[in-house]
Amino acid sequence: MSNTAAFDTLAAVYDRDFAESPVSRWLRERVWSWLEPRFQVGDTAFEIGCASGIDALWMAQHGVKVIAADISPFMLEQTRAKAEAGNLGHLVTPLLFDLNHLPEWHGEPVDGVYSNFGPVNCTRDWVGLGRFLAKAVKPGGYVGLGIISPFCMWETLWHGLHLDFRTAFRRFKRETIATLPGGGELPIYYPSPRQFARAFQPYFQFERVRGLGVFLPPSDAFGVVDKRPRIMKPLIAAETHLADTWPFRTWTDHYWIEFTRGENGP
Ligand SMILES: C[S@@+](CC[C@H](N)C(=O)[O-])C[C@H]1O[C@@H](n2cnc3c(N)ncnc32)[C@H](O)[C@@H]1O
Repeated sequence: MSNTAAFDTLAAVYDRDFAESPVSRWLRERVWSWLEPRFQVGDTAFEIGCASGIDALWMAQHGVKVIAADISPFMLEQTRAKAEAGNLGHLVTPLLFDLNHLPEWHGEPVDGVYSNFGPVNCTRDWVGLGRFLAKAVKPGGYVGLGIISPFCMWETLWHGLHLDFRTAFRRFKRETIATLPGGGELPIYYPSPRQFARAFQPYFQFERVRGLGVFLPPSDAFGVVDKRPRIMKPLIAAETHLADTWPFRTWTDHYWIEFTRGENGP
């Protein structure tokens, strides 16, 4: 498996450095407001890149069974421990899973799939992922993926104004090498919503794209806003009202792309 060690190192600091930031929490709650109407009590969901299990636990608290998949055994252990501690262990099944070595789907197809904050950017085999998910999801089922966008207005403006042009334009190459805490490196790919929709087209009906982090900053600038509630308020208002509209929904840190599984099987 690739990437395992790099993400195991990230696991130790993930909640503190990323997930607990007020900006990150606000964006996550926005994703939850999109997921909530798509899953019912008793449904089964497959989560790609569950990290420390925050979304898997939230789903389980809403009565949804979750197969929580990740490449990092440390992340999976955190997910398992949190689920046990919350008496939700019977609803959360951690699964060691590598997007770059997709397995055969052997179980019953699930009601829906979601992936939040960019795990899918760790592969460029979007056609293969679409074929895999076509086997994993029931006809009529839901897929919602949070993908790091190839253009982030905040990142380009902020780093451009600080004369850090390398960071300002890093996504433009559509492929970068990210350095993780502990020094691990891994390639990140930045597909556009159009590329993704085309890759999923044989088996999925494209529904919509939403912006996630258009007016709120990307994670390396969370601190700029986290400590300044006076700035945060108008940015949240803009994010709430404008982030789903064109062209802002494509000038975003992440976009949330939604599909419905069609009737055609692979
Ligand atoms: C930015 S974190 C995801 C965040 C998480 N979904 C959340 O909402 O907090 C990326 C996650 O993707 C996982 N990941 C990275 N490469 C992967 C791969 N090839 N297959 C499966 N998971 C992978 C990492 O271990 C990590 O937990």
